[in-house]
Amino acid sequence: MAERGLFITFEGIDGSGKSTQARLLAERLHDEGRDVALTREPGGSPGAEEIRRLVLEGDPDRWSAETEILLFTAARRDHLEKTIRPALAAGKVVVCDRFADSTRVYQGITRGDLRGLVDDLHAMMIGREPDLTFVIDMDPALGLARARGRNGTEERFEDFGEAMQARMRAAFLALAREFPARCVVVDGTRDIDAVAADVARIAHERLR
Ligand code: ADP
Ligand code: TYD
Repeated sequence: MAERGLFITFEGIDGSGKSTQARLLAERLHDEGRDVALTREPGGSPGAEEIRRLVLEGDPDRWSAETEILLFTAARRDHLEKTIRPALAAGKVVVCDRFADSTRVYQGITRGDLRGLVDDLHAMMIGREPDLTFVIDMDPALGLARARGRNGTEERFEDFGEAMQARMRAAFLALAREFPARCVVVDGTRDIDAVAADVARIAHERLR
């Protein structure tokens, strides 16, 4: 399938403002008359949303690190097949809250050094990088406070604590340096509108 659209992702630690900014960018592009698909991971297709429940709810020790990588990758494959590729083929701008960079960071470092396994599976089963990735950078203490302000049942990943959040922040910044052609780091500590203005400006540059 030929791809005519643009694939934009948002990455960063929990509570950095990804979901907020993904929604605002999608709304803005839609208001400007573009065809936009707003989606998220894990999830974004019916099958992947079922896998989301398996990975985000229940006992933190429910899955081994390796099984977890398989589940996230399985969810991503379904999301790519059913949602992302068809939308790009239809010429839409796909705005996605988290994608493979999250697996590189979370499954790649939180339970041992598994980045190699994550990359191998990605190459075999996904093989697609975003055209543009916003890495929303955020002080971990602030991100944690914001994330804890939300209530919910998806808790398996929200108990990392500040030290691990700091490592994950560093890992997202390292990914931005590893993939400079597609990644832009945005300071997420500012107010919502200031961050959104930066994001919109950068997205417009890429869309031209
Ligand atoms: P993420 O998707 O990265 O976890 P969210 O977009 O869900 O982050 O934001 C987490 C919480 O912080 C939400 O309650 C949201 O309303 C709030 N929030 C998001 N961006 C900002 C900001 N720039 N300043 C203050 N609060 C924010
Ligand atoms: P998300 O709903 O985006 O959480 P938040 O809004 O708090 O940032 O994602 C849920 C959790 O899933 C989050 O803690 C990160 C984790 N996750 C991974 O561990 N690996 C992945 O590949 C993805 C996409 C998410």
